[in-house]
Amino acid sequence: MQPTKGIILAGGSGTRLYPITKGISKQLMPIYDKPMVYYPLTTLIQAGIREILIITTPEDSAAFQRLLGDGSQWGLMLHYAVQPRPEGLAQAFLISADFVGDSPVALVLGDNIFDGHGFTAALTQRRETGGTIFAYEVSDPQRYGVVEFAADGRALSIEEKPAQPKSNHAVVGLYFYDNSVLDIAKTIAPSARGELEITAINEEYLRRGQLHVQRMQRGDVWLDTGTIDSMSEAASYVEVLQKRTGAIIGSPEVAAFEAGFITRQALLDLAAPLRKSGYGLYLEAAASDGGVQAPC
Ligand code: G1P
Repeated sequence: MQPTKGIILAGGSGTRLYPITKGISKQLMPIYDKPMVYYPLTTLIQAGIREILIITTPEDSAAFQRLLGDGSQWGLMLHYAVQPRPEGLAQAFLISADFVGDSPVALVLGDNIFDGHGFTAALTQRRETGGTIFAYEVSDPQRYGVVEFAADGRALSIEEKPAQPKSNHAVVGLYFYDNSVLDIAKTIAPSARGELEITAINEEYLRRGQLHVQRMQRGDVWLDTGTIDSMSEAASYVEVLQKRTGAIIGSPEVAAFEAGFITRQALLDLAAPLRKSGYGLYLEAAASDGGVQAPC
């Protein structure tokens, strides 16, 4: 089995955040003390993924490369590709075909934030065949992909932004697929809104009986940051939790240390130039807390 490759989709025009996103990519905006893209990047690292493709608009690619580099500072291999127009999440698998090769692949949306110990543990226990997606109970399911469950917990249907949702279970923006996703992506047609929908991919796995829908548990946190209000709520969440616990959320440095991708000394070296903003102090605290003592 090849190691799973990762994709962060950070394209899109961010029109729901206008005028802010007229001048800057949504996924580079701050969520409290770090750029938004750090959060989904951290999630992929927590899933044990080291080789990651970052898909952006053509205009924003240079800014992402300036921020994240080649990833070697975090023990990663980062690659970059562009999505010329926002033509849907599933297009990521057409753009990334050469990068993915014959590996399994995880896709995370650049504006999704995950937190919770149980959830990060679950990330490393995913299945190796078919698709694995996650459902989270929300009060406004019509904004999302919605999954309907049978009484025995099996997924019955998935609908993209239904006017009359059949449940409150939203599909979150983190998807694990086996390599057949590359072929499935080639067969789907654009939806009424003109996009290649990730929901169409999930429906195909469901039709094949190969879709595993994992419900996120109490204590797991999923925040999307696609609107002004949800972005500001996410920032408050991160601020309160970090100040209260002293532990940082969404730090690729700390996740890489805990995954054994970088040494304690490397974490301390990364912390030094980041002390003035306070970010480096969290890294120093994490370095003294522990982490995996595996070879890097
Ligand atoms: C996308 C997906 C949707 C999913 C959501 C999660 O929606 O199409 O199925 O529930 O991400 O954030 P979009 O962000 O394109 O509105």
